[in-house]
Amino acid sequence: MKVLAISGSLRAGSYNTALARAAREIAPAGVDIELYNELGALPPFDADTDGTEEPAAVGELRRQIRSADALLFVTPEYNGSIPGVLKNAVDWASRPHRGAALSNKTVAVAGATPGQYGAMWAQQDLRRVLGIAGARVIAGELSVPRAHEVFDVEGRLVSPIVAERLRIHLAALVEQAVPAALAA
Ligand code: FNR
Repeated sequence: MKVLAISGSLRAGSYNTALARAAREIAPAGVDIELYNELGALPPFDADTDGTEEPAAVGELRRQIRSADALLFVTPEYNGSIPGVLKNAVDWASRPHRGAALSNKTVAVAGATPGQYGAMWAQQDLRRVLGIAGARVIAGELSVPRAHEVFDVEGRLVSPIVAERLRIHLAALVEQAVPAALAA
């Protein structure tokens, strides 16, 4: 089973990307977690360029989403919501309306912040946006507050409690995923 992890942060030292990497390391046997790392290459969404000749980076995003059996979104919180770059990716992946890459895709949402709420609002917004885009958003959030204490300076997850919560979240995602081959 393949899970594509999409981090909403472009920052080199991102806690959210570190969370995605940790997920890759603790994934259950038989689950391969790949990290999408082209978020910054996506052009701003423009319905005029979204015809048969989609921008190359958009085509690649859609291909990676389509070939995954499930998605794990990890989102920072910017001003109480989702970073614009992440919303931009969701908008691209939500088109065309019929047969969009996100349509019926099983997704889980998580988020990390140095503050005390763990991107709670961003996760709520992202779940709502993904649902409107046609994804199957699994129940449950994974909020990681005080991220600077949860990851070491190299970005390794050092909290056994967060590791266990991440394991449980991933297990739920894998259990509810519809294999891409069957969904196509
Ligand atoms: C933030 N940050 C932030 N944190 C939070 O808990 N709630 C918020 O509303 C915001 N707003 C916000 C706006 C902007 C423009 C920035 C740059 C930052 C702090 C944010 O959680 C912190 O920078 C995280 O480290 C970002 O996630 P990554 O990049 O570490 O994954």
